[in-house]
Amino acid sequence: MHEPTARVRQADRSQIRVMFDRAAAADGDPVRLEVGEPDFDTPAHVVEAAAEAARSGATHYTSNAGLPETRRAISDAMADEYGVEHGVDEIVVTVGGMEALHLATLAVVGSGEELLYPGPAWPNYETQAVLADGRPVEVPLSAADGYALDAARLADRMGPDTAAVVLTTPSNPTGRVYDPDTVRAVVAAAADHDAYVIADDVYAALTYDREPRGVAALSDHPDHVLTVGSCSKTYAMTGWRLGWLAGDRSVLDRVVTIREATTACASSVAQHAAIAALTGPREPFEEMYEAYERRRDYVADRLAAMDGVSAPRPEGAFYAFLEPEVDAESLPFATYLLEDHGVVLAPGSGFGAAGEGRLRLSFANSMERLETGLDRLEAGIAAY
Ligand SMILES: Cc1ncc(COP(=O)(O)O)c(C=O)c1O
Repeated sequence: MHEPTARVRQADRSQIRVMFDRAAAADGDPVRLEVGEPDFDTPAHVVEAAAEAARSGATHYTSNAGLPETRRAISDAMADEYGVEHGVDEIVVTVGGMEALHLATLAVVGSGEELLYPGPAWPNYETQAVLADGRPVEVPLSAADGYALDAARLADRMGPDTAAVVLTTPSNPTGRVYDPDTVRAVVAAAADHDAYVIADDVYAALTYDREPRGVAALSDHPDHVLTVGSCSKTYAMTGWRLGWLAGDRSVLDRVVTIREATTACASSVAQHAAIAALTGPREPFEEMYEAYERRRDYVADRLAAMDGVSAPRPEGAFYAFLEPEVDAESLPFATYLLEDHGVVLAPGSGFGAAGEGRLRLSFANSMERLETGLDRLEAGIAAY
């Protein structure tokens, strides 16, 4: 049989997936706090709009960039919800935020060029850089600073080969919302190196203690920012696979051309669902937001009171990133927590070298399950 290519070999090593598979195969009723997606179903009015669109014949390819109505709805929502201003012709509708990130990386990171990201980071950036034949570079943030963005460290690491820097705020996995001035400084440094900032804003609407702001809204160089957004997290729509890329027309033109060879366009039905989510009633989404905020408070308070663990208070998204005071690497420790205590967390090593020794806990789960999961975590740390 033909051997996997070097790219495939390099891409295939997510420890989060390893843990997910172990949890799925486990006996009993483990509390699954490793999964990074909303536990809510898509609100009914969105589902109904999609069904109605399908019944009315919206079952064909759309233009590569997406339906004008969907792009209009995205343009308005970005401006209203996190202050990022783009015209309809500066927006491409994509198959989730993942395709937007993949297309942006393919479009701006050349062979052998660097894609930088502060670590710990969502592992897809590394894989996407590899698939683009670029070089992924994790720039570690300091746990002692609660994973605050460090503009000087990122700027120091930028050089002539740096093509792009990914900024994710709120962050998966740390739940950190980056300081606006620091974001501004990173974008300025990237612009100095003629590099792009790929702003992964998929969690922007899940910002708890301050006004949500997109990276481009904070920047003095918005022309150097490519914004990635998604319906997945804010509107509980992960399965619809609907996201977007917004930014410089010249980059978007390249993106629209290369996607012809892969997805061509996002699902027509999902694009209609997105219009309903972005322009319809807000109440179902406000209820979800409030539920995440209550859970954030509960999880943060429990972790703060727990012996043998430290964790910065999550400021956004639905993740707490914790450091258990145990002498163990994160994958074996997460496996122990599953096997001996029935609670599943994502190993921090799945988010790069800076995540080793840590665990990510997702609070996209009911209060009842969170309470049981945190009880089990507490018992597991105490007994280790
Ligand atoms: C940081 C981050 N960016 C982007 C995505 C992409 O999500 P989707 O493709 O569902 O929009 C995810 C999903 O987990 C994520 O955690």
